[in-house]
Amino acid sequence: MARVVVDPITRIEGHLRIELEAEGGKITKAWSETTQFRGIEEIVQGRDPRDVWAFVQRICGVCTSVHAIASISAVENAIGSNPPKQAKAIRDLVLTAQEVQDHCIHFYHLHALDWVDVTKALEADPVKTKAFADSIAKTAGVPSWKGNTVERFAEVKATVKSIVDSGQLSIFTGGYWGHPAYKLPAEANLMAVAHYLDALEFQRSMIRIVTVFGGKNPHPNFLVGGMACSIDPNKSETVNQVQIDQIAQWIAEADEFVHRVYLPDALAVVTVYKEYFDIGASVPNFMAVGMSGATYSGDPNTGDKSSPHTAVAPGVIMNMDLANVQPFDPTKIAEGIFSAWYTYSGDAKALHPSVGETTVKYTGPKPPYQWLGDADKYTWSKAPRYDGKPVQVGPLARVLLAYARGHERTKALVDFAMGAIGIKPAQLNSTAGRALARCVEAVTSVEVLGTIFDSFVENLKKGDIDVFDSSKWEPSSWPAQASGFSFVEVARGNLSHWVTIKDGKVDRYQAVVPTTWLAGGRDEEGQQGPYEASLAGDGTHPLADPDRPLEVLRTIHSFDPCMSCAVHVLDPEGQEIQVVVS
Ligand code: NI
Ligand code: MG
Repeated sequence: MARVVVDPITRIEGHLRIELEAEGGKITKAWSETTQFRGIEEIVQGRDPRDVWAFVQRICGVCTSVHAIASISAVENAIGSNPPKQAKAIRDLVLTAQEVQDHCIHFYHLHALDWVDVTKALEADPVKTKAFADSIAKTAGVPSWKGNTVERFAEVKATVKSIVDSGQLSIFTGGYWGHPAYKLPAEANLMAVAHYLDALEFQRSMIRIVTVFGGKNPHPNFLVGGMACSIDPNKSETVNQVQIDQIAQWIAEADEFVHRVYLPDALAVVTVYKEYFDIGASVPNFMAVGMSGATYSGDPNTGDKSSPHTAVAPGVIMNMDLANVQPFDPTKIAEGIFSAWYTYSGDAKALHPSVGETTVKYTGPKPPYQWLGDADKYTWSKAPRYDGKPVQVGPLARVLLAYARGHERTKALVDFAMGAIGIKPAQLNSTAGRALARCVEAVTSVEVLGTIFDSFVENLKKGDIDVFDSSKWEPSSWPAQASGFSFVEVARGNLSHWVTIKDGKVDRYQAVVPTTWLAGGRDEEGQQGPYEASLAGDGTHPLADPDRPLEVLRTIHSFDPCMSCAVHVLDPEGQEIQVVVS
């Protein structure tokens, strides 16, 4: 039996350590360990609830807008504020633009290098590469992208050659290049490297939508009761016709990139690595309150359904039973700390987030440590459960919910992909399934981005420029004590914020974050968290070479980890890339 430590897992946000036991090339046990702590939930106590969005969006440098929107929505729920329609539309535009950008970055910059061997691009012929790119576009049923030219592929090949010849791999340093598990043809590798570079430009360009409404990115500006930007097509000092025309252009470019680049590339990759639809299955339970971008101030079952993101009703799928979606009940959420370095008052084993606590009690070894998984407690991430069960959140959960609920566009895309690849719905609970679902969701999201924008502009033309409800701005208009919460479907999954306000100040604040749902550890019943279950759920996950754990990266990256979000946290070390302990 080999004990393997992968620390840190790279190409994610924050610090994640995975400890594994493997035998005969298969993983038998896994521990998901979040090795950083920050405590933002504690920092906001005693503060003005109207300021909290600015603190909590610093939970993360990636998922910034989403925490701000979750925060203002929770505070609005507590104080009874109802932002104007156009303010909600702007939040929807910001969320959707960020989500599409996030999914593209994930596929090209965080996940692709697990499937693409950069060094093999040198063996590719640019003419054949164009033919390959054209052929996968045809398979996906879309026109080949304008960037798929022989000249561009030749140029990228020359760039890769100069990088490799220099001996300094720059952004490609440290990859497991030459690992036998890489199996894309040379032309696919060259095309993918070209699109990796194109996606760098694209993501920078499209996130400007957020900067128009939020002033900057990351960490744009928000406002309890509305939005902090003024809109008026006829004024020079507000968001006006000039920016509206620019945004229309950026959305058109995003639409083209997602349909003609991301979709064919993702389909091609998961088809070549089809065996990954039978690898990395995690817990068969899924939770979502709608499509990506769905935002609720208060209970999602009774909330505002005016956005295209709320076209799919909240729901929970247990045991992969797509025929019987269960209603979503927010009272069934609880966060346990059996495996986490916290303590709860009294004898509580798990707490609902409306009464949640964040009290640190570190019982782990003094760093540097060799092994954490032998102790009951081994992580800073709490372990959220729904009705006592670990659940998956994120693109796969949302796509399965939309599919099960008969959402037409999602169903068409998923059925098309499953037919083209030759897989069954149950296989979507897998490493490749999570990658595919993220791409399906990018397609549906970029399409509704256009719909939301058109309706926003339509209302603007009718003179609807109100973006702020001032009626509940003054604390004197609030009750002495009030509680509120919000649910938002963000890039990595279901996010909820919970606030209690007393005498105009925050008395309690809790965030239950997608990566906490996914990266949390075992509970007192021994149930593994979703990351752990994906690696060691059934003893079949491959690990061919413990010194180069490429298969582990593929599966963990398929969740798109964001550890800063998971613990709202930060810490030390992890100098070693990976260590084989015994
Ligand atoms: Ni994050
Ligand atoms: Mg929390």
